Amino acid sequence: MPSPAPINRIVVADPVALADAAAKRLMARIEANRDRIAICLTGGSSPKQLYRLLATDTYSKQIPWDRVHWFIGDERFVSPADPLNNMAMARGIFLDRFAPKDHIHPIPTDVATPDESARLYERELQSFYGAEELDPARPLFDLVLMGIGPDGHTASLFPDYPAMNETKRWVVGVPQAHVEPFVPRVSLALPALASCHEMLFELAGSEKRAILARLSTDESLPANRARSLGETVLLVDQAALGG
Ligand code: 6PG
Repeated sequence: MPSPAPINRIVVADPVALADAAAKRLMARIEANRDRIAICLTGGSSPKQLYRLLATDTYSKQIPWDRVHWFIGDERFVSPADPLNNMAMARGIFLDRFAPKDHIHPIPTDVATPDESARLYERELQSFYGAEELDPARPLFDLVLMGIGPDGHTASLFPDYPAMNETKRWVVGVPQAHVEPFVPRVSLALPALASCHEMLFELAGSEKRAILARLSTDESLPANRARSLGETVLLVDQAALGG
């Protein structure tokens, strides 16, 4: 397996500029693929501004909705109608208005356990991909969006939890969260997240300053280990940098 290229850090002024830069990168990834496109979204608060931007005329009219499929990198194990549900947030802001219903691929949470949900989503990803093994030469996703929590988690891979070291499963159940909201999670594992042309982290605000400093070390944090086999980009604003 090829080793990932170093992270490309891009500094922008503020959250507005950050969403703008993320939207432009997303469009560039869409334009680079004339075939079926797969985008893996993220939850939390960081991507909301980007999702709002994608709902504007400027972007919604440019996106070839009939060719784009939308996945989610992790989910809180709550009902699809719960405001804490990550895919529900993305659907509410933009997907339900523009994307064909069968192009939206939520992690199912109306099942008995996070493990069952993980197995079902893994099967859905494998059927979309057309194989049960990931081929480094044929990435699963065009773009994977990521956020970073105060403890260095990304997706729902928390520091020192076994899920962070998963190498075989594409999706894992995470019985307990390390940060709020304290609900069980379901998360793509690192190899599935890595299988993309680009992994794009968004990090904004002074509350991210402490974790940003730890990201510059070789500490074994999930956010330090999550890297695309293609390009990995960290979009960071001045407030997070301490500027
Ligand atoms: C979730 C996320 C999680 C998030 C980080 C950053 O379900 O909460 O997917 O990994 O991206 O916790 O969250 P913020 O964007 O809210 O800072």
